[in-house]
Amino acid sequence: MHKGSRISRIGVFDSGYGGLTILEEFRKKLPEYDYVYLGDNARTPYGTRSFEVVYQYTLECVKKLAKMDCELIILACNTASAKALRTIQQKDLPILFPQKRILGVIRPTVEQLDTCTQSKHVGILGTEGTIQSQSYTIEINKLYPHITVVDQACPMWVPLIENNEHESDGADFFVHKYLSNLLNKDKFIDAIVLGCTHYPLLLKKIKHILPSHINIISQGEIVAQSLENYLLRHPEIETKLAKNHQCMFYTTESELKFISSASIFLKETIKAERISL
Ligand code: DGL
Repeated sequence: MHKGSRISRIGVFDSGYGGLTILEEFRKKLPEYDYVYLGDNARTPYGTRSFEVVYQYTLECVKKLAKMDCELIILACNTASAKALRTIQQKDLPILFPQKRILGVIRPTVEQLDTCTQSKHVGILGTEGTIQSQSYTIEINKLYPHITVVDQACPMWVPLIENNEHESDGADFFVHKYLSNLLNKDKFIDAIVLGCTHYPLLLKKIKHILPSHINIISQGEIVAQSLENYLLRHPEIETKLAKNHQCMFYTTESELKFISSASIFLKETIKAERISL
């Protein structure tokens, strides 16, 4: 296929800003591709919402990205991956856009786990929605039934980060609270998954509190590696992807708000456009 026929882009979806931590790793590892980021900032957070609502909102955003020439769409949001991915993959996509593909962030993260733990006791941290869905536990049980999983919802972490308070002394209380809740549930844990796109921004504080033998698993690099492998295995998708090193940012809320808050997550200044779904 010659270059001119490569017109598709990689769509990266998140409920708001958190997926920017995943996009950043995609662009580090695979800078040549064209990306479209869509943050549903008007309806964020997803982490506290029901299955039905997360599914409906995610589907609307996936349809939008599909119409924006995205051949491959990544749900760079754990909550959407937990509550909407399977239904969209199995029910909606084959009818609406049979040529397109959609991937999430939970499966690639889980695939790495066996090598990250010696004790085979793993902790999962996530939004209330991700933890309630039990998606991590179900996936881990399928792949690695010998691993014991304990989890902990961290409902205050996303608001702390989005309010740029994650480096403040006030944040220490909630970082400590959820980590000790988790460790009190199972003292053999030696690996902890940061199962929410925002949590890498708390990494410094988390590392400071956790004993040094505990492995902290942050998703960005893992998901980027998994995307690279996927593209190698799927030339029928890869050959359609444009390679102009471009990235467009869209939000369902005010673009000015998006540009300002995106600076918490990205080191570069970006341009963004507001779109309605
Ligand atoms: N991006 C979401 C996740 O990874 C967290 C933010 C939200 O609650 O919408 O789970």
